[in-house]
Amino acid sequence: MKKITIAIDGHSSCGKSTMAKDLAREIGYIYIDSGAMYRAVTYYCLQHDLFTEDNVKLEELQAAMPDIRISFKLNEQTGRPDTYLNGECIEGEIRGMAVSSRVSLIATIGFVREAMVALQQEMGKEKGIVMDGRDIGTTVFPDAELKIFVTASAEVRAQRRYDELRAKGDEASYESILENVKERDRIDSGRAVSPLRKADDAIELDNSHMTIPEQKAWLMEKFNSCTI
Ligand code: DC
Repeated sequence: MKKITIAIDGHSSCGKSTMAKDLAREIGYIYIDSGAMYRAVTYYCLQHDLFTEDNVKLEELQAAMPDIRISFKLNEQTGRPDTYLNGECIEGEIRGMAVSSRVSLIATIGFVREAMVALQQEMGKEKGIVMDGRDIGTTVFPDAELKIFVTASAEVRAQRRYDELRAKGDEASYESILENVKERDRIDSGRAVSPLRKADDAIELDNSHMTIPEQKAWLMEKFNSCTI
C-alpha cells in the first residue's frame, strides 16, 4: 500500500502525542514527536546556562546549534521512541516543569525553528511517517495527505498533564499547570514565526469528551479513507 504523510497539530497537552504514537504503531509508520525536538534544545540551554532571567543568550545559542544533535531511538520496553541529545537519552528530563516552562520561548526563535524544520523534513522524506506538533500541516509538510488539528479545553488539558505528572511521582499543582497551559497557548498562537494555526485542509478533532478508544476509531477511519 502506498505510504502517506500524516501531520497532527494542535494545542499543548491535548493528547496529540499519544494518538500519533498509537496510530503509527497500528499502521507500521515511523512516529516523530517534533515538540520533543524543541524540548531537547531547551534542555541543552538549561545544561549550558544559556537562559537569562527572562530570555535566552541568542548569539551563544546560535553558535551552539551545530553542536545540538537530536535523534530518536525506539525503546523496546515502551514500544515508543525516546529522544536523544548528542547520544544521551533525555526522554525523562525533557518532560519536567523546568523544560516545559521554558520551551515556548525557545520555539519562538527563528533560527531554532529553521534547523528543526529542516531536520523534520529530512526525517519524513520517505513518507510513512506520523509527526505531531504545531506547524507540521502548515510549514513542515504542507503537502501531507492527512492533516488533523486536535484541540480540547484548557481545563481538560491541564487535568491530563497533572494526572500524567502525578503518575510519575512529580509534585505538581493543578493551578500552576493550568497557568502554564494557557500561557503556552498564548505564546504558541501569537508568535511571529510559524504560529499555531489550523491548516485550511486539516480536519478538526475536539477530544475534550472523547475516550481514547473513540479517538482511535475516529483516526483509523480518517486514515483508511485517505489510503483507499
Ligand atoms: O508538544 P509539546 O508540548 O511537547 O511542545 C513543546 C513546545 O514546542 C510547545 O511550546 C510548542 C512548541 N512546538 C512548536 O512550536 N512547534 C512544533 N512543531 C512542536 C512544538
